[in-house]
Amino acid sequence: MKKDYIFTPGPTPVPHRVSMAQSKMIHHRSADFGELFSRVLEGLKYAFQTKNDIVVFASSGTGGLEAAVANCFSPGDKVAVFSGGKFGERFVEISKFFGLDVIEVAYEWGECANPSDCERVVAENPDLKGVMLTHSETSTGVVNDVEAFGKIVGETQALFVVDTISGLCAAPFKTDEWSVDVAVGGSQKGLMTPPGLAFVSVSEKAWQVVEKAKLPRYYFCFKAARKSFSKTPPQTPYTPAITLLQALDEAIKMIQEEGLEEVWARHALFARATRAGVEALGLELFAKDVSRASVVTSVVSPGDINSGDLVRLLRNRYGIFIAGGQSKLKGKIFRLGHVGYFDRYDIIVQLAAVEFGLKELGYHIELGSGVTAAMRVLHEG
Ligand SMILES: Cc1ncc(COP(=O)(O)O)c(C=O)c1O
Repeated sequence: MKKDYIFTPGPTPVPHRVSMAQSKMIHHRSADFGELFSRVLEGLKYAFQTKNDIVVFASSGTGGLEAAVANCFSPGDKVAVFSGGKFGERFVEISKFFGLDVIEVAYEWGECANPSDCERVVAENPDLKGVMLTHSETSTGVVNDVEAFGKIVGETQALFVVDTISGLCAAPFKTDEWSVDVAVGGSQKGLMTPPGLAFVSVSEKAWQVVEKAKLPRYYFCFKAARKSFSKTPPQTPYTPAITLLQALDEAIKMIQEEGLEEVWARHALFARATRAGVEALGLELFAKDVSRASVVTSVVSPGDINSGDLVRLLRNRYGIFIAGGQSKLKGKIFRLGHVGYFDRYDIIVQLAAVEFGLKELGYHIELGSGVTAAMRVLHEG
């Protein structure tokens, strides 16, 4: 018998009650849907910690990133994109694809973006229209200091656009307090819902720009979404992903029951426990700055072990899904997720699996040493 465990940093495990919530099809032009959608929009405001409007699209997170760019800018607008991993690079790609004039501030993968660079870029470019930052860079494990960036960008005319697809409901994120104009989230990570929904919070400052922005968009149109959403009861311009919204509604209820602060604290504890386990095994953490890292722990594959072999071994032999490295980190690191529906026993199982896998691949470890270190942190937690 082999049981599957999804420990990847997206998609993440879906709680049973969230799966069950999708079992009854309702029509999207019904009162039931109106009630559901109102609750989801309010719940998302809680998740984002905002009073801003939220727009929802039936797409993966990348659709939300594309929507953010397409709705907020005009051809040739100058933007600064701070990137230190695959998803920062995606923000650069989308911005270039739409013909923006992109200042790319690139960091070594594994480093955090430095707010003093933002200060400099903003001062040197008074015509800057946007600053893009990835909250939780899932490819490396770091979580950037969105608050410090927000203090700087908030003083300018530029819009502060943040990808919090893997950070939302995992690492602290305070849209309004941190002056984030446009924040993009996705369903399949901290929100414990299957993939397929993107949500974007849009500030008043951003709406004023959206009114005049000239990049083309059709489905991913903020204005069309807001027009339908503001009806009573709220509607959607096109057929919504009804069952995913039902699932999200239930997941948000779970987050509200636990409390957002507690959800953040749980993620931080599990990250500390995972790091303690990894270090007790004599392994090296890949992220240089783990001060805010609570979503995924990236680990340098030891010796000449290809991390892809470990990932495949755990998946094929034990049904344990961890993530390998992406792009230039392929084969070099593996990533242990602890985002969303995780409890302390998931952390222990995941570390135990890594211990078995590495031992089978010939790496010398004392079985149980990582697990023991993690248990200590969890116990003191
Ligand atoms: C930080 C970040 N941005 C963007 C994405 C892309 O999201 P999706 O695969 O849902 O399009 C991901 C997915 O892993 C992510 O972690």
